[in-house]
Amino acid sequence: METIKPHGRHLVNRIANIDESELKGLDTVEIDLETTLDLELIATGGYSPLEGFMKSDDYTAVVERMRLSDYIPWSLPITLSVSEDQAKKLEVGDDIALSYNGGEVLGLLSLEEKYGFNKKWEAENVFKTADTEHPGVAYLMSKGDVNLGGKIQLVKRRKYADYGGYRFDPADTRGIFSDLGWRTVVGFQTRNPIHRAHEYVTKCALEMVDGLFINPLVGSTKSDDIPADTRMKCYKAIIENYYPKDRTLLGLFPAAMRYAGPREAVFHALVRKNYGCTHFTVGRDHAGVGNYYGTFDAQKIFYEFEPCEIGIVPLFFEHVFYCKECGHMASMKTCDHSQDKRMFLSGTKVREILAKNEMLPLEFTRPEVAKVLIDENHRNNPEKSVEADQKA
Ligand code: ADX
Repeated sequence: METIKPHGRHLVNRIANIDESELKGLDTVEIDLETTLDLELIATGGYSPLEGFMKSDDYTAVVERMRLSDYIPWSLPITLSVSEDQAKKLEVGDDIALSYNGGEVLGLLSLEEKYGFNKKWEAENVFKTADTEHPGVAYLMSKGDVNLGGKIQLVKRRKYADYGGYRFDPADTRGIFSDLGWRTVVGFQTRNPIHRAHEYVTKCALEMVDGLFINPLVGSTKSDDIPADTRMKCYKAIIENYYPKDRTLLGLFPAAMRYAGPREAVFHALVRKNYGCTHFTVGRDHAGVGNYYGTFDAQKIFYEFEPCEIGIVPLFFEHVFYCKECGHMASMKTCDHSQDKRMFLSGTKVREILAKNEMLPLEFTRPEVAKVLIDENHRNNPEKSVEADQKA
């Protein structure tokens, strides 16, 4: 059965079969963890139609108007940066070995261009702020001053945790969806445990399509976000107890979080299209951080494109909560009751409750998920938890 066409129509495959002896004598650039993730996502087709790190024509077009130089929509720069000193030593036309963690060569870059770029300009366009308190801006400002552009080849994959077989390339998920007979699949991005609001969003979406792809981001996140291994335990627990097994697939999204709000929502949607999803959910403050973006900016941004250019269908959700008067989950679209009837827990409040080893309210989180969070909190912060025990 045919699945949705990848962005740009062809699924990119830059996975190379290269003998280590072919790498001898090449100039080497050490890349950071985030860049290793991009390297792999380019190579496996997650970032189709990108075949490498952006050259200046694509970079400028993306930052300025969210399009590649051939006008295909693309909302985030995918770049490899080095210091000026390092750039001077590299020759355009050469193959450069990309190594990680002190020497292991993971990829090759055919260096086609070296170009300087304006970080403040990039930040203001992409993140809508140049404030270095913003984690995405802080990361951008920490990068080298020269971008290296050109096609890549993946030589070797890093060894990652796959949490028991949940790591799929886009070609894999396309095959799985097709084998399962899912003609329509909704992708769900998250960097959190699945709370009741997420569950409502995913299940409302699943009512409209054949299958649900729960695709949590497990690349780098902020230090106060819940770590991926804890979240994976939560995902498994909630799927086991509350989702239909034959209509739900859990798979990792191995990218770094940018916290670019609206632009990242478009990026998340396009990448899920490459994984074979036909629909993608966007709720409140998608990929947001702090107060940098309006609650629904990540939905409004989709109207800047023709639906056929994006291809994957975004499914927008209003703010979801538990309404005591309705007696179930609802959203601002479906419930008229007053604010005091709605249950809302801030991240800080959730952390406080967990630190006291108390269950989160059922209206906020399923008990199986709350239990994982309490256990993990206890395991990772034994002193804090004991302190809280004594106070309680
Ligand atoms: S994100 O950074 O991955 O967007 P999060 O894991 O919190 O963060 O959200 C996952 C998805 O659920 C996003 O599309 C987000 O907009 C949506 N979402 C989270 N909480 C709510 C809520 N209370 N109401 C509606 N949508 C929500």
